Amino acid sequence: MTGMTLYEFLLLAHVLGVVAWFGASLTMFLLWRRAVSSGNSSDVVAQAESAMWVDRRLTIPASLVVLLAGGWLMSEGNWGMDQGWLHVGMTGVFLGAGISLLWTGRLQRRLVSGTAAGGTVSRITFGMLATMGVVLFAFWAMVAKPWG
Ligand code: HEM
Repeated sequence: MTGMTLYEFLLLAHVLGVVAWFGASLTMFLLWRRAVSSGNSSDVVAQAESAMWVDRRLTIPASLVVLLAGGWLMSEGNWGMDQGWLHVGMTGVFLGAGISLLWTGRLQRRLVSGTAAGGTVSRITFGMLATMGVVLFAFWAMVAKPWG
């Protein structure tokens, strides 16, 4: 049995970060849909609060691991900026996390503080789906490595 190289360790951390990020997003989305379809507004508010709790403890740290391990992999593996799939990955991290924090998170905070306007629930659902779509697109680009 051979030891692990730094590159392999970083790749493991990077991919585990992606797994945790996408897994947490999908789980929160399913629980959100469950709360919304219950028709009970206190369940919806409680679920928005739980999603923010999970974001702070799991999703945000996981996306930071993806970013940091990805950047380190680039320098360790001598990958250049001429690799189109890397641009997709970088855009994916900032766009995915940006939508979560600035769109979905902001609307969830409004819902929890009781200052939400009409349509907030479906806008939150849209934000969750948009982040998952972005993360999945980046996932595909990283594995298929197009425009390399
Ligand atoms: C700052 C952003 C990112 C950078 C700099 C980056 C960089 C890298 C690098 C250099 C590799 C190693 C490729 C290899 O050795 O073949 C890699 C692999 C990988 N990345 Fe990223 N990445 C980023 C974001 C993402 C995102 C957002 C996802 C998915 C949501 C992702 C998913 C993956 C996967 C699944 C692999 C393994 C692919 C394979 O081994 O063929 N990465 N990444």
